[in-house]
Amino acid sequence: THSRTYSVSSAFDFSNNLFPLSTTAAGYTALGTPIYNPLEGPSLEKHKSLTFLNGLSLVVGLIIGSGIFSSPSQVNINAGSPGASLVVWAVAGVLAWTGAASFAELGGAIPLNGGAQVYLTKIFGDLAGFLFTWCAVLVLKPGSAAIIAIILGEYVVRAAVGAEAADVSVWVNKGVALAGLILVTIFNSISTRFGTRMGDLFLVLKFIALLGVTIIGIVVAATGYSYDGKLSQEWKHENWFTGTNQNLSGWAVALYAGLWAFDGWDNTSYVVGEFLNPSRDLPRVIHTAMPIVIVSYLLANISYIFVLPASVIASSNTIAVKWGSIVFGPIGSLSLAIMVSLSCFGALNATTFTSGRLVYAAGKEGFLPSLLGKIGLPGAERRNDGMGVVAAEKRHGLWGKIKDWAGDEDGAIGFTPVNAMIFNTTITLIYVAVGEFGTLVTFYGVAGYTFYFLTVLGLIILRVREPYLERPYKTWITTPVIFCCVSLFLLTRAVVAEPVQTLIVVGFVAVGVPVYFFRIRGRGGRRKSSGIKWKFWKRSEI
Ligand code: ARG
Repeated sequence: THSRTYSVSSAFDFSNNLFPLSTTAAGYTALGTPIYNPLEGPSLEKHKSLTFLNGLSLVVGLIIGSGIFSSPSQVNINAGSPGASLVVWAVAGVLAWTGAASFAELGGAIPLNGGAQVYLTKIFGDLAGFLFTWCAVLVLKPGSAAIIAIILGEYVVRAAVGAEAADVSVWVNKGVALAGLILVTIFNSISTRFGTRMGDLFLVLKFIALLGVTIIGIVVAATGYSYDGKLSQEWKHENWFTGTNQNLSGWAVALYAGLWAFDGWDNTSYVVGEFLNPSRDLPRVIHTAMPIVIVSYLLANISYIFVLPASVIASSNTIAVKWGSIVFGPIGSLSLAIMVSLSCFGALNATTFTSGRLVYAAGKEGFLPSLLGKIGLPGAERRNDGMGVVAAEKRHGLWGKIKDWAGDEDGAIGFTPVNAMIFNTTITLIYVAVGEFGTLVTFYGVAGYTFYFLTVLGLIILRVREPYLERPYKTWITTPVIFCCVSLFLLTRAVVAEPVQTLIVVGFVAVGVPVYFFRIRGRGGRRKSSGIKWKFWKRSEI
């Protein structure tokens, strides 16, 4: 028998597709049946391959997505003035940075893949870990995919009909969002390699788009150049803080929009176990990546403010297109629309990849119906019959070429968590259908920051409860304290500013509690414990 490479191997492997991770832990029998053992433990962690630069590109690549091209309007409307929105962007960035530093400490102390799920289980017990997974599957993953898909839809429509075209029905945008979602689901169903190839392709594009906006915006500001020679100069005369919102809840909503653009800072925690030198590189990655993102976001916003009148910034989700049309005319708006569309498409592709793995792992663990923990479409095994080392030599003809290009290492096609991805895409479609950018961003923020808050609070609890736990990287204690205070402010303000959405989030979490007790605990010990002990847990037990 030979074993084949497959990228799902530990129960909570959220490995990202920005670069290939060498994982050979879970194998297949000769018949192609996946051998999967969720308690196999930190098998992925034995194949360490990530360096500092890998980590840096992972974090920066994940964070820069749709947000910097779409959030500025929400930030601006709710903060009230250009100056106040820059303050919001800075606060959001610093908050994300303190969160990331806190997660780095937890990652060093508990060097396993899985992020918040692992930390919450360790600190608060199994139920907390389950509730995180429950919310990630039902709210966080599909919610974030829906936001990106909606922005994708808006930018593609802008690219197709032009920036100045009269209002297109939102259902056209949503239709494009739906088409994009189905396309990335197909890509990621074909093979792991095909999904990652698509991901790599789009990574470069968003850097170019963001750098372009920043550099050209500053040139424009310095020279006063614009396409039609009528660059708005109103920023020069206006007081930057005129109109600042006096209402704290408005600031909270603005912050949620800014935080969306910075979201993804926790993602190294999903692959901590795979760093060659986590205690040295994890903090280095965080303390390099976050300042880079913060500075480039602030510069991009300054560029928007220089080029666009405040009324335009506040009224558009497709701010980059407006920016392009003022600086370069129709060519500018078209090329920015295309670049941002591709950036969103890449982000959607990446998030579909990780969501598939998350739902798949949850199905395997018994958190969700076991159908979702199955690999491949029906018949995938038969079609891939005899694949592997032997088959690789025999592959010929057109089908063989296609398999070579699109398939995994040994040419296998369709060995992906297809059911899980279809499940995730279906839930995402519901969010796309009923939601719109502003509400979804707040909804996602409330759900996400509930768990970020609990996790970072857990860091403080862990310092008291287990002072001697080995912590290769220890942040300044003010870091988690600042994070907890600001996110607590955000969460309490959400109750005032968006009571309905907060209630829906609370409802989702509440429904998870009986599910845990009846389905997970109840079924004759189908799943007893994650195996991560939450008390007197020694490093040697990892
Ligand atoms: N910051 C990203 C953006 O601006 C969104 C990240 C979504 N979150 C995630 N964990 N993938 O589009």
